[in-house]
Amino acid sequence: MYTEMKEDKGARWFELECVPKEYIFPTEYRPQNLESPVCDSIPVISLANSKAENGHSQPVEEILKASQELGFFQVINHGIPEKTVTDAMNVLKEFFDMQVKDTTTETVPRKKGYIYTNSTDFAKDGVHLWRENFKHPCHPLEECIHLWPDTPTRYQEVIAAYIVEIQKLSTRILEMICEGLGLEQGYFKDTSEVQFLSSNFYPPCPDPSLTLGILPHVDPSLITILYQGGSTGLQVIKDGQWVNVGAIPNAFVVNIGNQLEIISNWKFKSAKHRVVTSTHETRRSIATFVNPSPNCIIEPAKNLVNELEPTLYKASQNLVNELEPALYKPSQYKEYVLHSNAFGDDTAAIQNGLR
Ligand code: OGA
Ligand code: NI
Repeated sequence: MYTEMKEDKGARWFELECVPKEYIFPTEYRPQNLESPVCDSIPVISLANSKAENGHSQPVEEILKASQELGFFQVINHGIPEKTVTDAMNVLKEFFDMQVKDTTTETVPRKKGYIYTNSTDFAKDGVHLWRENFKHPCHPLEECIHLWPDTPTRYQEVIAAYIVEIQKLSTRILEMICEGLGLEQGYFKDTSEVQFLSSNFYPPCPDPSLTLGILPHVDPSLITILYQGGSTGLQVIKDGQWVNVGAIPNAFVVNIGNQLEIISNWKFKSAKHRVVTSTHETRRSIATFVNPSPNCIIEPAKNLVNELEPTLYKASQNLVNELEPALYKPSQYKEYVLHSNAFGDDTAAIQNGLR
């Protein structure tokens, strides 16, 4: 019997039996060996045990080691209430579920205060990513919150509560990094206040060997704090190989952004990471970039480079004991963002605070 193929106008862009050609990456970008499970050996650090007896506390030592070796770690016992996190994940799920049932892949016109796109951003040579993304600034919270979506109705309240917790956690982690690197107390205080939320929805994909959720990249942040629930798909380069960042209940994934790599004079590494897709699993994530403020000058910290005066050198007592010449030139964060097109097509809008 002949049945006419009808385009399903009610279907969303990913509800398909095969991958449309706009989503198929050239061979060199495609993820290889998806069938063979890659190992998962990202350090998992408990923040509970933060009392120091001699020298640095255990979490400080562990964060320092992970940041030097891999640039990725997960934190547990971080003190963020589970409910704050599940509420945020649920409200974002509702937001993505509400988006227009649309078979095209155009970016929804940019609205004041936030950007939603179904798969066209950060594409490479015109090839689309297998994801939807939603992002907005979160700083200063009182000014941004009213520009965020008002449907779902609890969006603003729930995400603000989440961001307040993430701010506390990121401040704590940056203080530990400060201590570990031997930087003066409060080094990040003025430069690390700017949070930017970027939430992703990666639907199941008919053929993960052809597509990517996010291309390999490093984050243009100081640190990024990511919640990935129980989902897999995030991979990081370790010793030249892609390894999975395992799903650990209630953990946050923390990665070193390239701005902290500069400040640390390359003692810390900002590792390349990507997201691969799955035939059966939906991935949802909330990334919060903790960024320098736009006018801030980013450069290797003075007491990590050997132009240092001897007195400061002695006082620094850092664990990273080899001082080297500065490996990076000073650069204003906003200049860096513009020159490197750090947020892809949205860079200018984001730089201007989306207003
Ligand atoms: C990012 C990122 C990973 C993820 O937004 O920069 O790497 O799991 N996200 O969504
Ligand atoms: Ni990233």
